[in-house]
Amino acid sequence: SMRVESVQALAARQREEIPARYIRPEMEDEQLLLAGDNEAIPFIDFSKLVDPHFSEEEAAKLHLACAEWGFFQLINHGVPEEIINKLKNYLEEFFQLPLEEKEKVAQLPGEVEGYGNAFVQSEEQKLDWGDMLYLTVLPPHLRLMQLWPSNPPSFSETLSNYSIEVKRVANYLLSVMSKNLGLEQENLYDIFKDGMQSMRMNYYPPCLNPEKVLGLSPHSDAVGLTILLQVNEMKGLQIRRNGGWLAIEPLPGAFVVNIGDIIEILCNGKYKSIEHRAVVSNEKERISVAAFHTLNFGDIVGPISELAEEGKPCYRSLDFQDYMKQFFASKLDGKSLLDRMKLT
Ligand code: SIN
Ligand code: FE2
Repeated sequence: SMRVESVQALAARQREEIPARYIRPEMEDEQLLLAGDNEAIPFIDFSKLVDPHFSEEEAAKLHLACAEWGFFQLINHGVPEEIINKLKNYLEEFFQLPLEEKEKVAQLPGEVEGYGNAFVQSEEQKLDWGDMLYLTVLPPHLRLMQLWPSNPPSFSETLSNYSIEVKRVANYLLSVMSKNLGLEQENLYDIFKDGMQSMRMNYYPPCLNPEKVLGLSPHSDAVGLTILLQVNEMKGLQIRRNGGWLAIEPLPGAFVVNIGDIIEILCNGKYKSIEHRAVVSNEKERISVAAFHTLNFGDIVGPISELAEEGKPCYRSLDFQDYMKQFFASKLDGKSLLDRMKLT
């Protein structure tokens, strides 16, 4: 993607006027669409999923969450608090480093990994009010270590430890989902177990007019399964629900998990990849870490035959490398990429 200024640096200048490229006229109407009732995404208790006494009931809840929401809060996930707290502290430290220091791991021209901004394709497009540090973590041989921050020290070790824990949680969720869908030979666990994991660490600075900008444009995730860690108590994530936007409350100690496009395709639409976005605040920055679990380059997948009723797949087959290329080459635009995979 194209290089643009660090939004953190821009926000720090405390200008009265937000540059026009960040202003979203649609936000005025969208405010009205906020789902105002007391709906909330489901909770899944991981400790119950792994406990034979409770697993059946909890697995049924998981199935409903995947089929009817595409998003859920995951509590009691068992990732050690010490690892999570270390990662949180390192990220807060990293984003506070001077710009020159952060730019030691800046994205290379045309690339997505490293410190920078995603999905900037043209001079005309609207920009998101946020910066990111994007790194591929698994399989280990794909790591671009020159883009892993060496300051603060031992960041890399902490990210690796976190990666292993989150991968374990993803694997387990995928195995329960496979059972829930009655999958045997072709199943989600096997399809993703050796797949890529990448981390998008987001930094959304405060904005003087938060109602005029967007931290992250509406999109669905072009991956299998996303596990989101919210680093501080700031809310910002919103999901499409009944034509409006439903705000997700950050819940201390919980992950927010969501189904991505590739699972929607594999499940032939039984589980849904839901559009979401991030808004920002005028008070304080927000930091989040999205761990994406996806396929490997070279993989081509389509709807699993057991789920394509009467041999009727509702989606085209997906060439992972090609899909990623399209995802990063387009600006974020709701579910437009996934919609193009649908067979009508
Ligand atoms: C994401 O969509 O990947 C993350 C949004 C957030 O920061 O909550
Ligand atoms: Fe996302």
